[in-house]
Amino acid sequence: MDQSKAPVLDALAEYHEKGQTPFTPPGHKQGKGADPRVLAVLGDAVFRADVLAVSGLDDRTSSRGVLEEAQALMAEAVGADHAFFSTCGSSLSVKSAMLSVAGPHEKLLVGRDAHKSVVSGLILSGIEPAWVDPQWDAERHLAHPPTAEAFEAAFADHPDARGALVTTPTPYGTCSDLAAIAEVCHRRGRPLIVDEAWGAHLPFHPGLPTWAMDAGADVCVTSVHKMGSGLEQSSVFHLQGELVRPEVLRSREDLLGTTSPNVLMYAALDGWRRQMVEHGEALYDHALALARKTRERVSGIDGVHVNDRDDFCGPGRAADMDPLQIIIDISAWEITGYRAADWLRAHHRINLHIADHRRISAQLTHADDAGTAEALVAALTELSERQTELSNHRTDLSDRRTELRSGRPVEIPPPSRLRLDQVMLPRDAFFGRTEQVPWEKADGRIAAEMLTPYPPGIPAAVPGERLNGDVLRYLRTGVEAGMVVPDAVDTAVTSVRVVRDT
Ligand SMILES: Cc1ncc(COP(=O)(O)O)c(C=O)c1O
Repeated sequence: MDQSKAPVLDALAEYHEKGQTPFTPPGHKQGKGADPRVLAVLGDAVFRADVLAVSGLDDRTSSRGVLEEAQALMAEAVGADHAFFSTCGSSLSVKSAMLSVAGPHEKLLVGRDAHKSVVSGLILSGIEPAWVDPQWDAERHLAHPPTAEAFEAAFADHPDARGALVTTPTPYGTCSDLAAIAEVCHRRGRPLIVDEAWGAHLPFHPGLPTWAMDAGADVCVTSVHKMGSGLEQSSVFHLQGELVRPEVLRSREDLLGTTSPNVLMYAALDGWRRQMVEHGEALYDHALALARKTRERVSGIDGVHVNDRDDFCGPGRAADMDPLQIIIDISAWEITGYRAADWLRAHHRINLHIADHRRISAQLTHADDAGTAEALVAALTELSERQTELSNHRTDLSDRRTELRSGRPVEIPPPSRLRLDQVMLPRDAFFGRTEQVPWEKADGRIAAEMLTPYPPGIPAAVPGERLNGDVLRYLRTGVEAGMVVPDAVDTAVTSVRVVRDT
């Protein structure tokens, strides 16, 4: 195919050239009806490009196949048999993928480090999860994706599982041995779904971790807005092989997706694919070199440790890591990652990706340059100096340093206590009879809601799991220290939604 084409962008340009007059949504009619104060912030171009996909970008019957051609170009570019664009994020794509492999009351093997959107998929579908333990790094309090051996053992315990789902890279950038997991699945004729939300860039440079399609996965889901140049919410899911039928995957997406997809997102996806085919390797040569240098410079700052391959990769840990995710361990300091992230935003206008009880992380992409890297290093250097002052002058704290004082420490349970037993189907626990109880009384009760520290968005508790005091204390002390648990009914986690006993 001619990868220099960008069918969605071309059709949009033609729509404007031809001076089409819409008597259809969107009601703003290419911005003419938008409030000037809105236009002043968003710009005319956003509204001009916001046209209806059908009877707008393409004709009433989509006879020109604009979207189909753009998707086929994407599939060819990344070596998949089919690619599907979605405007509802990987949150929707991953559910479509799950539903194309298993149905209500059927089993799916799922790495327990899955994102909350996967758990939402379990709740909505009634799929029974057979959880596969990630690899816990008990020293660093961090999980890496499960191994192929763990999936092998899970299939032995659940031979009726319809397939498997693994998340890689994790939001911390660590990757599983996907080829080995695919082999375990395919030996049983079962498909492998990869939640590669953090890996949309992987196909475009040989120095990045292996791309799921190259490793033999059947379906893989990417969020192009995360590491690529997609607009927020844009996602592409890819399919290859015979184990999942394209018409089934498409029908599952149709079940969940919007009937009003945003053409802006399609256009950005289309342009991103062309940009990557033409310039991806050079852009990631540059990004990887910048990441190398930035990692070195941040490592030189007092009191911080940048996690590298020695920390994250090897037996019992991850198979690979994405160096563009710069994970910065600040446990030598007296503050949590939450405090550090807030301070960096307040004082340096630096916004970080993950903040947890002992880490902060900075995501670099092909869009970063020496200037943004310098801003990060300068901000972290000042934070390190403030932190040293804080340690040296405990009694004489200026306001600026007071903000950095740590609150109560977060009580982190050992891995064995973090893994709760799934005693009920997530769907039944979520939709059944529930009650709200004080957190101290939730020990031993069955969770009826997700409790998810965000980011990274991996639920500490899933509906249907039996809560224990350690996980509850982790969440409570976490919230006190700055953790955000947005999906809980009571986001302060002073009370918890549980299944009613009677
Ligand atoms: C591993 C993983 N999967 C899926 C998602 C959902 O992606 P989206 O935000 O594109 O809906 C996320 C979001 O952070 C994620 O981290």
